[in-house]
Amino acid sequence: MPKIYASRSNEISSREKRNMDRAKKIAAKGMVLLKNEGLLPLTKDKKTLAIFGSGVRRTVKGGTGSGDVNSRTVCTIEQGLQEAGFEIGTSEWLDLYDQLCAQALNEYMEAFMKAIKEKGQGGVLYALENPYRDPDVPSITDEDIKGLDKKLAIYVIARTSGEGSDRRVKPGDYELSEVEIKNLDKLCDSFEKVIVVLNVGGVIDTKYLRSKSEIGAILLMSQLGNISGNVLADVLVGNVTPSGKLTATWAENYSDYPSAETFGRINGDVADEYYTEGIFVGYRWFDSFGIKPAYPFGYGLSYTKFDSSVQDVSLKDEQLLICVKVTNTGDKYAGQEIIQTYVSQPQGVCNKPYQILAGFAKTKELRPKESETLSIKVRIRDLASYDVKNACWVLEKGEYLLRVGTHSRNTAICAVLELDRNIVIEKCQNKLALDCDIKEVVADKSKFYSYESQVKEYSSAKRINISNLEIKTDIVEYSNNPAEIKTGLVAQLSNEELATLCVGSARGGFGQQSVIGAASTACPGAAGDTTSLLIEKYGIRNMVLADGPAGLRLSKSFVTDSQGNIIPSLGESAMGGIEQLLGMPVPQRPEDAIDYYQYCTAIPIATALAQSWDVDAIEEAGDIVGEEMEEFSVDVWLAPGMNIQRNPLCGRNFEYYSEDPFLSGMCAAADVRGVQKHKGRGTCIKHFAMNNLEDNRSHNNSHASEQTIREIYLKGFEIAIKEAKPVSVMTSYNLLNGIHTANSYDLLTSILRDEWGFDGLVMTDWGTTGGGDMNPAMDNKYGFSDSALCIKAGNDLIMPGSQEDVDLILEGLNNGVISRAELQKCALRIINQIWLNN
Ligand code: BGC
Repeated sequence: MPKIYASRSNEISSREKRNMDRAKKIAAKGMVLLKNEGLLPLTKDKKTLAIFGSGVRRTVKGGTGSGDVNSRTVCTIEQGLQEAGFEIGTSEWLDLYDQLCAQALNEYMEAFMKAIKEKGQGGVLYALENPYRDPDVPSITDEDIKGLDKKLAIYVIARTSGEGSDRRVKPGDYELSEVEIKNLDKLCDSFEKVIVVLNVGGVIDTKYLRSKSEIGAILLMSQLGNISGNVLADVLVGNVTPSGKLTATWAENYSDYPSAETFGRINGDVADEYYTEGIFVGYRWFDSFGIKPAYPFGYGLSYTKFDSSVQDVSLKDEQLLICVKVTNTGDKYAGQEIIQTYVSQPQGVCNKPYQILAGFAKTKELRPKESETLSIKVRIRDLASYDVKNACWVLEKGEYLLRVGTHSRNTAICAVLELDRNIVIEKCQNKLALDCDIKEVVADKSKFYSYESQVKEYSSAKRINISNLEIKTDIVEYSNNPAEIKTGLVAQLSNEELATLCVGSARGGFGQQSVIGAASTACPGAAGDTTSLLIEKYGIRNMVLADGPAGLRLSKSFVTDSQGNIIPSLGESAMGGIEQLLGMPVPQRPEDAIDYYQYCTAIPIATALAQSWDVDAIEEAGDIVGEEMEEFSVDVWLAPGMNIQRNPLCGRNFEYYSEDPFLSGMCAAADVRGVQKHKGRGTCIKHFAMNNLEDNRSHNNSHASEQTIREIYLKGFEIAIKEAKPVSVMTSYNLLNGIHTANSYDLLTSILRDEWGFDGLVMTDWGTTGGGDMNPAMDNKYGFSDSALCIKAGNDLIMPGSQEDVDLILEGLNNGVISRAELQKCALRIINQIWLNN
């Protein structure tokens, strides 16, 4: 019987309170002020608020699916403002919206029950693909605004999205709904000024908002976890100055994104995704092709003003040091500024964008007139490109322009690095060849973004010659077929025991007895366990794996009998009681039943964390999770998620940091450090790799060139691994150039282990080998990944696992597809991880 770590008391604990306070401080740093014509912070005389919009009472704390964290409570915007002393002058309108939502939920549940009746447990997957979404808001009438002070109104636009389905370019999702526009028109006509708050997890269309002069402030609140409302109140009243900056480009028009017409289901093809935009993702696209964004990458305002000036740029060994003095020139508010460094690489053999982000730093909170000198480091190695023709990472000869500023469209050239020869940083082999012909976009310098003062900046910039740098070329040695291990524990294990170890504990089969995102039997609500079958004979204990990234995802409560046996389906399960809906037998609550509680902190979504550009704050967010993992005895956190926000419609973008690989890598590294400073607690960075859409995610083939894959989609993972050593990596659902990532030896062994030196554990995503089909009736062009080939590829652990996976591994051994040595290698990595966690 597993030991129970949950609390017997339902009282809020001091840990919960402390972590909420910590989360508040972190969350405030990730809000981005997009526009402010003196409306914010609110003046002290404001007491009764005219506040409308879907997010006021139904505040979205984060997205749905496995990335949703079951916190005890969520402080809504309404509550947060009330606790800050405001009165809400619009409660009748908010009540009406509540009624509409209750009605819509009833209708949804009816459809859900029908799907369950028809599809059995496939109904759960139906729910993922067709998630419940709140209906549109009611119109604001004259009656609703009667008696309200007409100086100022606030409108909160909320959106939610999640695992299993992508967003749509339609009203109420990417676009504003007709009613939202009508409501905002009404407020703009009736009130002197309007503030818009965006309680969203990703980009929305802001064209309308920017077109209305009455909308004097736009605040991207983002989705901040269970303390959302309190944090917003603090920022609105000016207790805290927002200091976040965008980590994705917000386009003028959806059609400005390079994958706009082909992404996911838009072109009717959910089987093949062609990455024809190549390396031109996010600002790399907008800047290289002269497209003006609505809000550029790295953009964000403050309540105060800053002045910054580059003091010095120097080169030491292989690293540039850029010193920038930042002064708060305002006279009222304290605030923090973020300085960003971009580099324009020389055009050569490799395709290159206008610029890439290469470094950043954030000041402490500067009081009015206070200054700080930031030191930003840029490693010369990080400026290399991947040359497919010569299979190497290379710094091509030419000039590298160093740009420093406050967002991607507001920088100045402060140094020019001169290189008169090509320097090969790393010699490797091409491993991810395209499985079809695609025509990738190529840079055209004549279209690059340009601005008036650049010629002058260029001619007065400091010149630094880097030709004589002695940069060593790393030559990768790729591993050979492993030899059988003849001594130690893995030598003693039979083939069956080895296979058992390499398959998670949900032996009833994924999608049958286990529910997605909550398959653990040891820790209710955790996503899964490794096997417990070898405890008695070998002392190899199971590990508990639980989701993130917006905190630790466990059931809020559960019930045991007096002997401590967990009684499934009682208590508030991680899936909100879905087992009961599925008609699984719901046991009677025994008289001597004991209740247990495991309330975790819902921290801000990953995008909001990244928007802080504050690696210390992100490390602290990881520290919160690590502390809670210790309390509930969770071994591995299935986070951070670090796929690239390639297109704003990806349903899980909120779980990811950015469109930029460098920033994603640095944020993930900080998150990992925060968790792993807790002894025995590990992280699992995911989804490796190119899981950039959700519709038909298990059967989608991403086609991209090796340069694109390595520079954009793998780079962040590489940085996180090299900087912070996460203990594990989760593969993705999709195929990459024709091979399931879960089965890709080239990706999981040659690149991840041989090139990057990763020596931890690799696991599959849940149900990659079968069972987790969103739409079993659909005739898919590509199938599931193969259990035996997972082992061959170096994918050590199949999660959540089924007896079928064990059987298929054994079959693979018998028919020579895999060797005992390969299976031993995977098993050994699992055992090593268990020992490490002990
Ligand atoms: C998600 C993973 C998650 C896993 C376990 C999958 O559906 O893609 O991110 O960690 O479930 O819940």
